[in-house]
Amino acid sequence: MLSSVRKQLLSSAVKRYFHASVLACSDKSFVHRDTPENNSNVPFDFTPENKKRCELIISNYPKGHEAAACIPLLDLAQRQNDNWLPISAMHKVAEILKMPRMRVYEVATFYTMFNREPVGKYFVQICTTTPCILNGVGSDAILEAIKQNLGIDVGHTTKDKMFTLAEVECLGACVNAPMVQINDDYYEDLTVDDINRILNDLKAGKKPKPGPQSGQNGRFASEPKNGLTSLTEPPRGPGFGVRPDL
Ligand code: FES
Repeated sequence: MLSSVRKQLLSSAVKRYFHASVLACSDKSFVHRDTPENNSNVPFDFTPENKKRCELIISNYPKGHEAAACIPLLDLAQRQNDNWLPISAMHKVAEILKMPRMRVYEVATFYTMFNREPVGKYFVQICTTTPCILNGVGSDAILEAIKQNLGIDVGHTTKDKMFTLAEVECLGACVNAPMVQINDDYYEDLTVDDINRILNDLKAGKKPKPGPQSGQNGRFASEPKNGLTSLTEPPRGPGFGVRPDL
């Protein structure tokens, strides 16, 4: 029989959560569901140009280890297919690399870089991991500005199929937080005005300058915002301090 203390603990365990915030759940399903545009009867093949690229990529790996080319081939297929990866493209990669289809599915469902559903022309990924939340105006403000500007929520695509918005974990540019990735470009040191300008430029068919948006006197890459604190002299070349003639 349960002691009354244990009963109390168990009942309180039901009510008490370890989370103070909302549970984070992925909005993506790992299970493929056939749709009219994404099923194994929709043909996919690499273009002749990309077939040559496939051969080149595969030749980077030793004989018998062609499966190592799985990620670059899936990436190539995705780029060829408007930035999303249909199941028939996975089958084509499995066929080329002589891999079981399941092995390719495992890769395509594990890496979030593969979009298994159609996305807009501009795929906007906003990082909402801790440094991006805390730095500058914070990713919450940037996310809100994107939602307002595009009129969509996370996981959705605009009606004109121009933009898809996704919320992602750290994209490795924390020093320049907050930041977003749009297709292959990073936009960093963002303010609300910056992200609105970037999105409006894309809508107008312009190409906004990627990288830190911290103004004319801002930074070029990820150096300190207030100027260099080390490595301020020109590099002295290899051998300095070792060879007496240098
Ligand atoms: S936390 Fe946002 S890029 Fe690392």
